[in-house]
Amino acid sequence: MEPVKDTSRPPLAYVKGVPLIKYFKEAIEPLQSFQALPDDLLISTYPKSGTTWVSEMLDMIYQGGDLEKCRRAPIYIRVPFLEIRHPGVLSGLETLKDTPSPRLLKTHLPVALLPQSLWDQKVKVVYLARNAKDVVVSYYNFYQMAKMHPDPGTWDNFLEDFMAGKVSYGSWYQHVQEWWELSHTHPVLYLFYEDMKENPKRELQKILEFVGRSLPEETMDLIIQHTSFKEMKKNPMTNYTSIPTEVMDHTVSPFMRKGTVGDWKNTFTVAQNERFDAHYAERMAGCSLRFKWQPE
Ligand code: A3P
Repeated sequence: MEPVKDTSRPPLAYVKGVPLIKYFKEAIEPLQSFQALPDDLLISTYPKSGTTWVSEMLDMIYQGGDLEKCRRAPIYIRVPFLEIRHPGVLSGLETLKDTPSPRLLKTHLPVALLPQSLWDQKVKVVYLARNAKDVVVSYYNFYQMAKMHPDPGTWDNFLEDFMAGKVSYGSWYQHVQEWWELSHTHPVLYLFYEDMKENPKRELQKILEFVGRSLPEETMDLIIQHTSFKEMKKNPMTNYTSIPTEVMDHTVSPFMRKGTVGDWKNTFTVAQNERFDAHYAERMAGCSLRFKWQPE
């Protein structure tokens, strides 16, 4: 028998064909009048791709590796989340009012839903992509613990919804591809989660070059150490434990869950994997974007 769905959670709402969490949908219109500044830096990702990790790295860079300064507030205050608008909990646009320049900004939105001033001001973007299979497993766990999402239902149903783009923020395929296309005409540094796991220092160096900064070797080492999964999991300023339990219940699944590459193998059945691979090949055909970590 199918488990009964929790219908007390708000269903997704559509904006220009993109499904979004109800509260986030309400922020899209006011967001369009957001005035970007030329020295803003936008961190863009599809959800569950390592946003918090790269955000902490960037704040560490901006603070010159000063740990105390990076403990000044939780990550969602230090790096305002443009489209979040959760009544009584958090509003990205409100947080921005108190954010000094140069600002770090976060979004998961597809390109078409972002404000025009980001493009007019040629705001630099750090885009982080993660292999789709680990994303969908991470997202399934996140949907369960973060109550602003609808009930994800069974894993099999959720996987189908993900492949069909019927999850919050829509299609992963479209997201990774359109930001990839944009990187040919706009200053976008396109990074991969798996590369960060493989060699975080090499990726940190790329970020430093992109933002036009340099740091001493020992500061770089400190940043790598401070932004390791182990450190970020126990750091209350990065692990989201400061969000009320009614909104994020870490007993269901912690925000800092596993932080590994290839965890999908513990969740996908052989049949699901075959179905996913066939669909993946179809959806990625014709795009020059290649994940080194293509589905096997
Ligand atoms: P898992 O659920 O697979 O563990 P986002 O910040 O975009 O929501 O992404 C969350 C995912 O990134 C989670 O994946 C989380 O554990 C992982 N993550 C967070 N910080 C990390 C770090 N420092 N190193 C590696 N993975 C990290």
